[in-house]
Amino acid sequence: MVKLKNLKILFITSEVAPFVKTGGLGDVSSALPQTLAELGHEVRLVVPKYGAVDERRFKIHEIVRLKDIPLHIGDEIELFSVRSSFLAGLKTKVQIYFFDNQKYFGSRKGLYQDIKTKKDYSDNDERYILFCKGIMEMIKKLGWTPDIIHCNDWQTGLIPAYIKTLYADLELLRNTKTVFTIHNLGFQGLFSKESFQKTGLPESVFTEISMNLGSKISFLKAGLLYSDVLTTVSEKYAEEIRSIDELAGSMKPILQKRKSELVGIVNGIDYNIWNPEIDMLITARYSPKDLEKKYENKSALLEFFKLNDNKDKPVIGTISRLTDQKGIDLIQEAIDKILELDLKYVILGQGDKKYHEFFEKVQKKYPEKFAISFGFDDELAHLIEAGADMYLMPSQFEPCGLTQLYSLKYGTVPIVRYTGGLADTVDKVNGKDYSGTGFVFKKYDSDEMLKEIKHALKMYENKTVWARIMKNGMAKDFSWHSSAKKYIELYKKILKED
Ligand code: ADP
Ligand code: GLC
Repeated sequence: MVKLKNLKILFITSEVAPFVKTGGLGDVSSALPQTLAELGHEVRLVVPKYGAVDERRFKIHEIVRLKDIPLHIGDEIELFSVRSSFLAGLKTKVQIYFFDNQKYFGSRKGLYQDIKTKKDYSDNDERYILFCKGIMEMIKKLGWTPDIIHCNDWQTGLIPAYIKTLYADLELLRNTKTVFTIHNLGFQGLFSKESFQKTGLPESVFTEISMNLGSKISFLKAGLLYSDVLTTVSEKYAEEIRSIDELAGSMKPILQKRKSELVGIVNGIDYNIWNPEIDMLITARYSPKDLEKKYENKSALLEFFKLNDNKDKPVIGTISRLTDQKGIDLIQEAIDKILELDLKYVILGQGDKKYHEFFEKVQKKYPEKFAISFGFDDELAHLIEAGADMYLMPSQFEPCGLTQLYSLKYGTVPIVRYTGGLADTVDKVNGKDYSGTGFVFKKYDSDEMLKEIKHALKMYENKTVWARIMKNGMAKDFSWHSSAKKYIELYKKILKED
């Protein structure tokens, strides 16, 4: 019988801040396990040791009994080791296991893509089969049996399938339950059907996880089908993927079938990292009581982007993957009309080539009003959150979204589309009593977006009203505490079942 008071949770993820991060999953994988640990549970984390993990900065040491473990991948035998470190600067300790294999992970700087060609690695199937199957072997040798194995996104999708089939007789996992969290249904881990044989899974699994009339398999589908419970990162997105065909896509039948086992739990944010009162990455720290200080960050931001400093003109910021999901095509469509307005606009992002080319041209056309920094730059992300007046995030779909939550805390008023986590976390400003925290439009349409930008600019003109809206957002509490408790309740619920 599992002791439900202090659970043992193995949290498996493909990225974790500050070690390696490409997006929100990295932030969540750092903050959620820490909060679970603060609530009294024992959490350990597993992540691949990519070449981008800075060995000198983080003390990562060997675990002798987990060295050079052999594993079959198709006809080949690969060796992997597990090394260990801790999530730094904590009240509680979360142990991290780094899954170490030089050929597939250690020798590469990129996580999922080659950083030069920006193309997915052609052997991502083998990489994440090795990772998932390797974790199964690691668990056998670990001498620590988790009550809960919490998997995240397609990179970890095979684990629930291994547990329910190839490793079904593993006595030590007899009472263990699996949770699979969907951070983004758009990434399905699709590979050609030939990849299946490398998994070593029984043939019955092939039929279950095959797609496109059997020509492909999906690692995400394995997670969706074989885990004991499914979660996603906001209630609204949970509702959307159960009901909206374009969002559920070919996963709709599974999501429909498992709809009572699909739970939406909104992400929180880590206020030790994203908090203007203590943020050492920004120029000046501030709180709702001394908002004037925010403008030192605005000056620094404009200086960084070599845009003329003018405190009174509004600055809009965006920090984003430059992909269709994020509504970048709406921004593209409306850019001339946006930049005709009396404002400045700065972007930090990287992604699709078409958007890089487009924004380079925009920068040349509007050097006084628009600037973009291509690449991944955590420090600049903090400065934009602190220095901008408004934050534009017109996503086509958004499972949760974290940057709008950071914006709220930094008094940087979000302008968002009503979808997924954006709908759940930003309250439309009410023109009568100025309650609400941001500007929200519904239809995926560039004119609708433009209307909300203009609406925000109008309100910005009245400094008292604007300060009120900023403070409404800054007063919101999106800390992880209550969401982490919901995960705990869910873990306990499935552990009590059967
Ligand atoms: P997603 O995970 O879909 O990209 P989220 O809003 O959940 O979107 O999280 C994005 C995270 O990645 C945030 O922490 C954001 O600050 C960060 N981020 C995104 N693009 C960049 C970038 N180019 N440079 C630095 N940080 C970035
Ligand atoms: C994904 C989603 C994003 C979410 C993040 C963390 O990257 O696109 O909306 O905030 O995961 O859950």
